[in-house]
Amino acid sequence: MSEPIPASRAGRGAGAAHSDALVVFGFTGDLANKQIFPALYQMVKKGTLTVPVIGVASSILSDDEMRKRVRDSVEHDGKIDDPAAFDRLLSLLHYVSGDYKDPATFEALKTALGPAQRPAHYLAIPPALFETVIKSLGAAGLAKNARVIVEKPFGRDLASAIELDAVAHAVFPESSIFRIDHYLGKEAIMNLLYFRFANSFLEPIWNRHYVASVQVTLAEDFGIGQRGTFYESAGALRDVIQNHLFQIVALLAMEPPAYQGFTAVQSEKAGVFHAMRPLTAADMVRGQYEGYRNEKDVAPDSDVETFCALRLFIDSWRWSGVPWYLRTGKLLATTAAEVLVQLRPPPQKLFDDAFPQDGRANYVRFKLQPTSAVARAARIKRPGKGFIGDQRELYLCDDMQGGETTYERLLGDAMVGDGSLFTGQDAVEAAWAVVDPVLVDHSPCLPYAPGSWGPTAADALIAGDGGWHNPTTETGPERCPP
Ligand code: BG6
Repeated sequence: MSEPIPASRAGRGAGAAHSDALVVFGFTGDLANKQIFPALYQMVKKGTLTVPVIGVASSILSDDEMRKRVRDSVEHDGKIDDPAAFDRLLSLLHYVSGDYKDPATFEALKTALGPAQRPAHYLAIPPALFETVIKSLGAAGLAKNARVIVEKPFGRDLASAIELDAVAHAVFPESSIFRIDHYLGKEAIMNLLYFRFANSFLEPIWNRHYVASVQVTLAEDFGIGQRGTFYESAGALRDVIQNHLFQIVALLAMEPPAYQGFTAVQSEKAGVFHAMRPLTAADMVRGQYEGYRNEKDVAPDSDVETFCALRLFIDSWRWSGVPWYLRTGKLLATTAAEVLVQLRPPPQKLFDDAFPQDGRANYVRFKLQPTSAVARAARIKRPGKGFIGDQRELYLCDDMQGGETTYERLLGDAMVGDGSLFTGQDAVEAAWAVVDPVLVDHSPCLPYAPGSWGPTAADALIAGDGGWHNPTTETGPERCPP
């Protein structure tokens, strides 16, 4: 019997030594600013980060400038409610500036690391620089007993993912490589795994006999901001579908793990990607918000998608014939993420008001963002002589705030060598194999108005399965039909 799920969280690194320094490449970047500094502050506050943190980036910053940056970031995230902890964080910080292509940068890093023997190198940098940094870490002797934490996307297609993996493995063993998909560190996403397998009532209906379709929406009401260069090389499919949305699908579609342990979870999830049918152009609608081409660092004739909707099939015994609809977009009507598992209607129509006259059949809804909840829709009779009723939601778990924030959890786990919430290379490659055909073969982007739900062609994709359910930021049960 191997390790239990999450009680011990004893992943592949069980018994492994704690990293004795954290190196953050991309220290002046957007990710560090928005997510990493607040996470480091929380970790110091809770006593889970006590080792030196060395930031690396190309900008030249004085110590004061570097500290101000960190202070601004933490204050922007919330207030500094423990000044002593914040001072402790500042005392752990060091900064090395230099070009990632210059070996002198890595020599300076070695000096800054001082006596540290087991650093964790976190690559919060554009994917195009992963290979350069990993190779340089190896060449400078900084990979020995070290860990590397790599931000997604891992590669930009199947071939580059395989190549990146070869580069990483030439320098680090698999047990020292931590591929971050930050969705896996979110409470609401972890709850998908828990809710499915800690309850037994779902399993009998969780298959093609009872599930008509599944839809997953990740909507954002903001544009690409200052990320034009990155976004032009990525687009919505690479940026969030191949990773965040696919991870959600994998947790919903996977077979029950055969034993207690995260290795079993990871291999069942990879199995879902292997069973996914490779996408074709007819399965996908690409959109681009009006005004995107005027954004900073965006080509005036760009065909990069800021919206993507697709239909995919998982050719497994359980899911054969069930369409899965995925949708994401920037500058949509709201910022929210949700899953709707559409159940089949009863086989016989015994009451006048039953489906489909008044909307959807029963469904299960997982609200993922901005708040978390699980809703189960069921029909209930109205008082009176007639057999007429309404569909109402049984609503669970309003909010899952508390505990660790996503990056606190993931960086903390990586530094103790626990790979439970990270992605294996097998799954990464299998996921790329599904999207690879449509990375090159696809229809041009259709324009959509900011604040809308994307191009209307996306509605046609799902029209035969009840249409999209547009998530809202409201909490509490929804009025049905949604
Ligand atoms: C990132 C993408 O991985 O995830 C962003 O690069 C996206 O484009 C973000 O906005 C969404 O994450 P979250 O946690 O804000 O839902």
